[in-house]
Amino acid sequence: MNNGNKNAQTVLIVGATGYIGRAVVAESVRQGYDVIAVTRSRKDDSAFDGAEVVVADVTDPASIAKLFDRKVDVVISCLATRSGLPEDFDDIDYKATLNVLNAAQKSGTGKFILLSAICVRKPDLPLQLAKLKMEDALMRSGIDYTIVRPTAYFWVFDSQTRRIAQGKPGFVIGTGDQARHNPIAREDLAGFMVDSIGNSERKNRIFILGGPEVADNIVTHRESLLMIFDALGKEPRIISVPEWLFTALIRITRFIGLFTRRVAVFSAFLNVVHYYMVNDMRAPGYGSVTLRQYLIDSNRKVPT
Ligand SMILES: NC(=O)c1ccc[n+]([C@@H]2O[C@H](COP(=O)([O-])OP(=O)(O)OC[C@H]3O[C@@H](n4cnc5c(N)ncnc54)[C@H](OP(=O)(O)O)[C@@H]3O)[C@@H](O)[C@H]2O)c1
Repeated sequence: MNNGNKNAQTVLIVGATGYIGRAVVAESVRQGYDVIAVTRSRKDDSAFDGAEVVVADVTDPASIAKLFDRKVDVVISCLATRSGLPEDFDDIDYKATLNVLNAAQKSGTGKFILLSAICVRKPDLPLQLAKLKMEDALMRSGIDYTIVRPTAYFWVFDSQTRRIAQGKPGFVIGTGDQARHNPIAREDLAGFMVDSIGNSERKNRIFILGGPEVADNIVTHRESLLMIFDALGKEPRIISVPEWLFTALIRITRFIGLFTRRVAVFSAFLNVVHYYMVNDMRAPGYGSVTLRQYLIDSNRKVPT
């Protein structure tokens, strides 16, 4: 589908159905690229208006190679496992993404834009190790690249917002003030990624990216909860879980998880929550949407 400008450059997006991928598809269409959204099953979705939707299996190199039978100028990867299981990070965030890079390289694609994560700065979790391997493969590939390492997304506040909207308390680990961050809106992140296509200053560089560096967006976890209570017009009620108790819970569930997949997934989730609550995630600011604005907008249609 030709959207009329940008010299008819074709942008192929993998992970197109994800939280960020959908915004990247919309932004690429908006900027006038010819957009191929790769999905793993047929999706009838207005998010893909103006894009061509193509079904392929990113875990199968042959299936991916077919995507490049025609000329692709740019690949944007927003692929990420949804399971949270350690082995799946290696399979999707690394190996499947590498399949796409290899096919892009063979076909002479000019640029590869990779969505990574700020947390690879302090690698500790399987997610981060897989992402670092992929970053490394991309940097060695010889293809022009831009790697984007965003800080937290706004959706990570949705579960606490839901709980609080239902009259439950919010929770933090320890005081909730150990770490500060400036989360980024998916539209702002998608804008940065798509703008990187034709921007020579972003060639072969890694960008750590947060949302606006203003009071309404730079928060500790406790402060973000206070913002949620405020947006919902409720009296703050916050439970502090001692850090030793939380880490004990992670260890116990990790052990039980050796026998039960559901508990293994839950344990991996707790591990990620712990990591994000105690490690600083502040990043250079970009974009315009603040967490407070997002929470006010969500309050108009509180997620349930
Ligand atoms: N959450 C945060 O605050 C945060 C912060 C910084 C960076 N990040 C990073 O940002 C990246 C993208 O996040 P997101 O929230 O957009 O992810 P997401 O919503 O979970 O989307 C993941 C995408 O990958 C696809 N995918 C997963 N497993 C697949 C498989 N086996 N075969 C084919 N496709 C598969 C999904 O397809 P389906 O729709 O078919 O499942 C979806 O399109 C992740 O790497 C994450 O680590 C997250």
